Amino acid sequence: MRLPMFIRCFLINSIQICSYILLINCGANNLHHMDGTSTAEIINGDVFFEITDPEELEYTYRIRPAKDFGAPFNASFHVKNVPLVPILPKNGCKPPDNLDDIEGNVALIERGDCSFKMKTLVAERAGARAVIISDVVNSNQEYFIEMIDDNTVEEVNIPAGYLLGKNGLMILKTLERLKRSYAMINLPVNLTYTPVHEMNQPPWLGW
Ligand SMILES: *[C@@H]1O[C@H](CO)[C@@H](O)[C@H](O)[C@H]1NC(C)=O
Ligand SMILES: *[C@@H]1O[C@H](CO)[C@@H](O)[C@H](O)[C@H]1NC(C)=O
Repeated sequence: MRLPMFIRCFLINSIQICSYILLINCGANNLHHMDGTSTAEIINGDVFFEITDPEELEYTYRIRPAKDFGAPFNASFHVKNVPLVPILPKNGCKPPDNLDDIEGNVALIERGDCSFKMKTLVAERAGARAVIISDVVNSNQEYFIEMIDDNTVEEVNIPAGYLLGKNGLMILKTLERLKRSYAMINLPVNLTYTPVHEMNQPPWLGW
């Protein structure tokens, strides 16, 4: 069972008062005291990926794995220098127009119009290795959405992660401006021994 966020934070740091807003900092600041525990485990099972190209997007991004559907982002899952491709149409609710670009790669999908699981299934059928879903319409939301099973579609077998809308929007806008159909990513990145200030988070998040 998962403990509420503030209790988790409190448990790993009894001095610092940790609000929901500060949970990222709270978890991450304690990395060095948690020998043998990865960054990802400390911060609620979230995983990180990095963009290696284009240069303007070269940061480390946090995603929250789907709660109860899809494959886990476990030790068997690892993509290196693989395209992250915005799916077309953007909501990923029907077979993609850019099928050839999606196949073998990671799909970036906008939230809305159909369930998270449906989007993941559509991308899986198109040959995607994983999906990253982001609420770019409500891109000022500072919290992660839990993607839960909706029980309406068949099982999916690829991992799905939720990306903050602000990040999704910046990635999409930047690719559009550069007239590029994809970014290159590594997923996951291992931040076990990376101090917080070296985590290279996107500057627009303002953390
Ligand atoms: C990772 O998850 C996949 C899909 O559930 C599974 O087949 C694989 O054995 C798992 N690998 C590890 C190392 O746990
Ligand atoms: C991350 O890197 C550290 C140090 O190289 C290693 O000990 C650890 O097993 C790695 N963790 C994963 C999940 O690959």
